Amino acid sequence: PDLSKILNLFDFELVARQIMTNNGWAYYSSGADDEITLRENHLAYQQIFFRPRILINVSNVDLSTTMLGCPSKLPFYVTATALGKLGHADGEKILTRACGTSGIIQMIPTLASFSFDEIADEAIDGQNQWFQLYVNSDRKVTERIVRHAEERGIKGLFITVDAPALGRREKDMRSKFSSDQDSNVQKINEKESKQIDRNQGAARAISSFIDTSLNWEDIKWFQSITKMPIILKGVQRWEDAVRAAEIGCSGIVISNHGGRQLEFAPAPVEVLAEIEKFLIFVDGGIRRATDIMKALSLGCNGVGIGRPFLYAMSTYGQEGVEKAFDILRDELEMNMRLIGATKIDDLNESFVNIKGTGKR
Ligand code: FNR
Repeated sequence: PDLSKILNLFDFELVARQIMTNNGWAYYSSGADDEITLRENHLAYQQIFFRPRILINVSNVDLSTTMLGCPSKLPFYVTATALGKLGHADGEKILTRACGTSGIIQMIPTLASFSFDEIADEAIDGQNQWFQLYVNSDRKVTERIVRHAEERGIKGLFITVDAPALGRREKDMRSKFSSDQDSNVQKINEKESKQIDRNQGAARAISSFIDTSLNWEDIKWFQSITKMPIILKGVQRWEDAVRAAEIGCSGIVISNHGGRQLEFAPAPVEVLAEIEKFLIFVDGGIRRATDIMKALSLGCNGVGIGRPFLYAMSTYGQEGVEKAFDILRDELEMNMRLIGATKIDDLNESFVNIKGTGKR
């Protein structure tokens, strides 16, 4: 259908399912095991209702915000997702261009289909990007990557901590993928990929280098090699948020990797309700502006969105991703007016009915 017929983020998914390759759809859409966490990520938002305020002058609504010192036109970022070329020949570069025109922050994944430099080069002057890091068992490789990201002006290092083993995404495992289908991830996996079973889907073919020994001590090492703010991506209980704050991390992303890792990991919005006073991002299952507003009301500083932008990229390219941003902007503007808030900072707990969440 014509892009003008797309009314919400779910519409992109419907089109993507029709027109994407089997491999691409299986890799992007899949979640772990029976996809219960995948489902709950979004459904959990549907348990939360608003407490709107009336008679507020909402003629002007300002949706801009700042995340990790980076200005953003809207209170969300494009989170890191691997293998952009499975959806579009220009893959991650499409996301970079759309973010550039729209003033949105992009988190570049370690396992992008394009090299880090190709994606960084695609950014326009002043465009802010973050970097998602999968830690290599060979720390020299990791150190080189981190230092290079810093030199290139990356504004935040997001270390993925929810993937010491790979979740079973069975839809993906049923599809054949070898890492030499993607020259960049092949380079990243170099030595290890030789032992990989190529008939176990994309995720298994690309992630053999990830270090299962990664632990809290290593985070101190990262602090010694970079001045970039360090954010732990994949925190799933409040105790770990406290520990991250104690050791001087700049923030956390409450995330279960979009339901792709631990099956029965909690819905991020419920974990958010447990945590107080920290720089917090949340991702997973965010599909509507109202989801974003609920997360912001519960105390996070911005949200990450993954699959919807992949589907928009895969179906309508850059225009599609820009349209996805526009849809969220329009939804945000209207719903902010309807709950009686005129800027992102206005949002606080008083706007949500937290009965039924884990809020302590
Ligand atoms: C991801 N995610 C992810 N996270 C990460 O730290 N490194 C990675 O390489 C990837 N790759 C990846 C690929 C695909 C296809 C998906 C869907 C997700 C997880 C991602 O950053 C984020 O946590 C979720 O996508 C958020 O959930 P939604 O918005 O997709 O529901």
